Amino acid sequence: MANVSTVILGTGSYAPEKILTNAELAAMVDTSDEWIRTRSGIRERHIAAPGEATSDMAVAAAKRALEDAKLTPADVDLLIVATVTPDQTVPAVSCSIQHKLGVPTHAACFDLNAACSGFVYALDTACAMLSSGRYRHALVIGVEKLSAIVDWKDRTTCVLFGDGAGAAVLGISPQAGIGLIGSKLGAYGDSVDLLCIPKGGSTHPTTAESIAAGDHFLKMKGKEVFKIAVRAMEEAARDILEQHHLRADQIGLVIPHQANLRIIEAISQYLELPMERFYVNVDRYGNTSSASIPIALDEARKAGRIKPGDITLFVAFGAGLTYGAALFRW
Ligand code: COA
Repeated sequence: MANVSTVILGTGSYAPEKILTNAELAAMVDTSDEWIRTRSGIRERHIAAPGEATSDMAVAAAKRALEDAKLTPADVDLLIVATVTPDQTVPAVSCSIQHKLGVPTHAACFDLNAACSGFVYALDTACAMLSSGRYRHALVIGVEKLSAIVDWKDRTTCVLFGDGAGAAVLGISPQAGIGLIGSKLGAYGDSVDLLCIPKGGSTHPTTAESIAAGDHFLKMKGKEVFKIAVRAMEEAARDILEQHHLRADQIGLVIPHQANLRIIEAISQYLELPMERFYVNVDRYGNTSSASIPIALDEARKAGRIKPGDITLFVAFGAGLTYGAALFRW
């Protein structure tokens, strides 16, 4: 379908009620508020209530996004859920979300795992499917219950992550020059071991030994991930700008993946774009993986940080190691 724009019609987000502060974490593992704040910029994170599922958080964010778009679940014919923490390994959590939300059975529903780059991957996928002319309204959700896969005895990881959900409703517009300008996705598959859950998959199904060793929890080589993250995000941002003949200073707002304030600051320096042009909420959420960009997007829109005509850059990286950047004009 030529000459149509794929646009964001509404956004919504949800964070569980319980907030876990750095001080509370310091009572659980050998860490301190000072260490967490200076190394990561995180002050607190939200943690799902007992019995609160990934699908529940997703439904809460999706309802807000649909309301914002002035649409109903009946209007959705494409549902893409970016997550690494589905309710169950099989089936896709998108099907549970479809059912709980009341999205019609003719809607295509699938999960997408690109870890922390998941929302950017899902956004690009949705835009491509909408551009085909075969779908009218896409609901794209980034959601994580990372508290379920974090080892609460491992201070090198448990201080960094949080739970939450963000959603965007996308559609098509006859107006030229708005919506998705372009995107750049990629991955460094030679680095899968840097950030992974070692066991519990089909190669090493869960055993009593793997559980005793904690191999069903998330493991990360933080220092290595940090270096690749900065390089990959900077390159993806530069590539997409160059491809579309834009300068960094033409970007109204960068919405980066919220993993670590120091990573965001490094990208700001390398792109020579002041921190005021970056939306930051890692201090309040920690790293919510697939949910981080859509939560930030929803907050930024509702805080008036995005105006019609503005260009927004989304840029992310995550386990895989995946990376992605996308440019949107509003
Ligand atoms: N509290 C106190 N000390 C801690 C700690 C914690 N929570 N976690 C680690 N430490 C210790 C380490 O054991 C190490 O001690 P040592 O020097 O005696 O060995 C010291 O602090 C420094 O650890 P290091 O890993 O070098 O810290 P860092 O400055 O690299 O910061 C991260 C660690 C994890 C915050 C940082 O590497 C990072 O953000 N990496 C990227 C992570 C990421 O974004 N992942 C998500 C990808 S989507």
